[in-house]
Amino acid sequence: MYKHDLVYLTEDASHDAAIEHINEEAFGPGRFTRAAARIREQGPHDLSLSFICADDGETIASVRMTPVMAGTVKGHLLGPLAVRPSHKNIGIGRELVRIAVEAARRKGSEAVILVGDPPYYGPLGFEKVTYNALTFPGPVDPGRVLVVPIAENVHERLKGTIAWRACS
Ligand SMILES: CC(C)(COP(=O)(O)OP(=O)(O)OC[C@H]1O[C@@H](n2cnc3c(N)ncnc32)[C@H](O)[C@@H]1OP(=O)(O)O)[C@@H](O)C(=O)NCCC(=O)NCCS
Repeated sequence: MYKHDLVYLTEDASHDAAIEHINEEAFGPGRFTRAAARIREQGPHDLSLSFICADDGETIASVRMTPVMAGTVKGHLLGPLAVRPSHKNIGIGRELVRIAVEAARRKGSEAVILVGDPPYYGPLGFEKVTYNALTFPGPVDPGRVLVVPIAENVHERLKGTIAWRACS
């Protein structure tokens, strides 16, 4: 059986081409039109909270985190998260999410927010944001807006717009 030799690393510029390929393969050209992508277009992601997984030196999965202001919450938007088809269903996606959320917590982020499937992210600590409480720069399914609250009263404060913010 093929044995994996997996390492999880903080993203740097040398991973750019591989991550672009992974995201193209996972989401196709439509990925740039998504509401979350529009936030990511507003400014750079935070490399210190973004991670890749490499197998025997080849980058095969990626998660990125972008600093956002969501209502009055200084948090991070998680995504894109993608794993190459050859490496799905062996826990890599879950581990990348776990590492990213933990890193955000250590950095003092108030919340990790994403647009994604509740059955996947629920067991990883994500809760539904109050229906339509957050306004994205484009249409989103309000039932898929999720958060890991880190600071106090996050759910109450997640009201209004979500947009990129400069890292502090
Ligand atoms: C979604 C994705 C990141 C999961 O990564 P992964 O490393 O394959 O997932 P893991 O090994 O951590 O978890 C696998 C489990 O999650 C489940 N799962 C995968 N995608 C799911 C989804 N969208 N909804 C619910 N469950 C899902 C699998 O069925 C599997 O369940 P099991 O453990 O009961 O067998 C990966 O499939 C992928 O890159 N998909 C395409 C891009 C994408 O959809 N990204 C997420 C955007 S929200």
